[in-house]
Amino acid sequence: MSDNKNQPVRGLEGVVAADTLLSYVDGERGKLYYRGYDIDELAGKVSFEEVVHALWFGDLPNPSQLEEMRSSLIAEMRLPGQVLDLLRLAPPNANPMVVLRTALSSLGMFDPDGGINTEEANLRKARRILAQVATIVSSLHRLRVGKPLVSADAKAGFAANFLYMLCGRIPEETERNAFDTLLVLHADHSLAASTFAARVTVSTLAGMHSAITAALASLKGPLHGGANREVIEMLHGIGKTGRVNAYIDGMLANGKKIMGFGHRVYKTEDPRSRHLRRFSEELCRKAGVSHLFDISHEIESLVMIRKGIRPNVDFYSATVQEALGIPKEYFTSIFAVSRTAGWVAHVMEQFRDNRLIRPSSNYTGGFDRKFRDIHDR
Ligand code: COA
Repeated sequence: MSDNKNQPVRGLEGVVAADTLLSYVDGERGKLYYRGYDIDELAGKVSFEEVVHALWFGDLPNPSQLEEMRSSLIAEMRLPGQVLDLLRLAPPNANPMVVLRTALSSLGMFDPDGGINTEEANLRKARRILAQVATIVSSLHRLRVGKPLVSADAKAGFAANFLYMLCGRIPEETERNAFDTLLVLHADHSLAASTFAARVTVSTLAGMHSAITAALASLKGPLHGGANREVIEMLHGIGKTGRVNAYIDGMLANGKKIMGFGHRVYKTEDPRSRHLRRFSEELCRKAGVSHLFDISHEIESLVMIRKGIRPNVDFYSATVQEALGIPKEYFTSIFAVSRTAGWVAHVMEQFRDNRLIRPSSNYTGGFDRKFRDIHDR
């Protein structure tokens, strides 16, 4: 009858659901590894394309492999006219993550490899999807502010092109480096909720577009990728350093969570936040918004004292993006573009050794209820 002796693990905390070669989070030591490389070794030294190559092919590229990865991604940074029309038709105040999820899903109808799930087809789709998510985000912004769409510069890298297509100007070197590193730091993170959603979807042999649509839907939530936007709203709401104590104590007294803090796996500092803090300080000063960094820093100290909780990746990524001139509506979408590199790698890994992911539930309802005809209810 019932199998309710199997108690569920709430939130699947600590449950191991897949083998992966892609990334490892050591929550006790505050370490993140991509393909065995410590993120502290990579951050600031490698480009996003190098990380994409490592995730997809197992190792960092040599110069010709890097050029192949860079040029093939840039060549795919364009969208079918029907998908651009869809962006034009989206309500002007629709959440960009909703538009991105919808547009990416629609791209599945146009993809020449749609319905083909071989290793070669998946790799082609991976390239197209990664390039196209960046193009969707930048095109949506350009259309909404009434500016002309910007085509990719065939000679520039992925990060520089993405910022260029979004903001319409060639980024300075510091900006490009910071943005490139931001993309590197968000590229993969073991079985985050969105990555799990992608693997569950593809385990039914639904294709890569379905999996990335599911991942985008999952990333949107404020407990996952949606937190960075809420962080910047909190910082602007606080306005100046003298108000931090009252705000944070008020939130905690009302049992509210501080956005950008806490993590399911990290029990110590999230290494990504350490790198982003450095960029945040530098870029905020350069952009004349140092007060936002100062408020952040004060929040970090206070939340540590009050709750013993540290910032996660979303906390300082908010001020990095703000200082780069990226509108807050797009913060989660920028995270999504980077994480697409990891999602598609997980999809390909799942396809290589697939078994339907179908857990059980603990039924807590009743049995043997008497059926009554609709007229007797
Ligand atoms: N602010 C205040 N308290 C927090 C907190 C936060 N951001 N994050 C966790 N806590 C507290 C909880 O209130 C709880 O305290 P309690 O045991 O006294 O009730 C404890 O820490 C454990 O939190 P819980 O929500 O059960 O942990 P989780 O592993 O289920 O959740 C997150 C992890 C990330 C969802 C959670 O930390 C959170 O909601 N953070 C804010 C959203 C965010 O920044 N998300 C981005 C994640 S990268």
